[in-house]
Amino acid sequence: MSSKVHLPSINDLQQSSKRRIIVCRGRSCRKYDANRVFENFQQNLSPDVELISVPCLGQCGNGSMVLVEPELIWYSQVHPDEVAMVIEQHVMGNKPVKAMLYSKFHSKT
Ligand code: FES
Repeated sequence: MSSKVHLPSINDLQQSSKRRIIVCRGRSCRKYDANRVFENFQQNLSPDVELISVPCLGQCGNGSMVLVEPELIWYSQVHPDEVAMVIEQHVMGNKPVKAMLYSKFHSKT
């Protein structure tokens, strides 16, 4: 039995100004508890924030990877227990959690 998974296209992701959380649940990120990261977002995000699971964000080995749109803020090595902080400070407070930023794309200073 096969199941179809809707994956958003790059255009879909770039054309919206709506707040969206993209959680990688690929093989590499699952080693770092990405499924629990996703579940914690799922259980605690308000309904107006879209939550998407993708099979890879192209940054394997730095998981769990989380991307917040529309501002394109990347978080790496996200632990399930840190999800609440991302929701509180970034999603609700509009202040990215500097200590968790992915250093490849963001400066922490
Ligand atoms: S598996 Fe998560 S970035 Fe590739």
